[in-house]
Amino acid sequence: MFSITCFSNGKELDIAAADVFSEQLRQKPSSVLGLATGSTPEGLYALLSEKCARGEISFRDAETFNLDEYAGLSPDDPNSYGFYMRDKLFSHTDINPNKTHLPGKGDENGAYDAKIAAAGGIDLQLLGIGRNGHIGFNEPGTPFESTTHMAELTESTRAANSRFFASLSDVPEYAVTMGLSTIMQAKKILLLIKGQEKFRAFAAAYLDAPSPCVPASVLQLHNDVEVFISS
Ligand code: PGA
Repeated sequence: MFSITCFSNGKELDIAAADVFSEQLRQKPSSVLGLATGSTPEGLYALLSEKCARGEISFRDAETFNLDEYAGLSPDDPNSYGFYMRDKLFSHTDINPNKTHLPGKGDENGAYDAKIAAAGGIDLQLLGIGRNGHIGFNEPGTPFESTTHMAELTESTRAANSRFFASLSDVPEYAVTMGLSTIMQAKKILLLIKGQEKFRAFAAAYLDAPSPCVPASVLQLHNDVEVFISS
């Protein structure tokens, strides 16, 4: 079940998304949050950092699980998602670093999913969408039943992400990602779509029959998906 809200610009979308996270943390300070990386959540993370600095919200009792992480990059590599999360959010908040998790070696085949379950399951999962309809690094063709696994990135995803790297050849070819079934276990999902180049992917995910050809279409089978859209 999708609830869709359109915003006239990305800033308004960020404010509304920050309100969703703030409300989640106020209602349940020990929330388990599923987090995403990329350009889309940067404004949201800046607002959450500011709110935390002003004492309006606290991550002290929260626990986080990121969607994905490149394989083969050290956690100190500026292109790793671990670095991104510390840089954009964690180091500006009161979160306990021991309660922040990114999938890595050994987390495939159910191990990361078991850690999430042991933490009580994800209360609120943040998602972006790729131009090819991927969520996390679940590229087209990924089975809906997939749990956390090592994924081979498509050439289009590597090309899209090469803007963060010195060259396309530096972009890793593999990543460990929550699977589609892992994502679907979250109690609530907030999908952020910023930019017209993402609209076609969302239209396919929303309008066509659910199919692994469009990984985000699995969300039609979830009962609580909030979608925020801006150009
Ligand atoms: P972006 O990536 O936020 O950098 O556009 C989203 C995604 O590919 O899932």
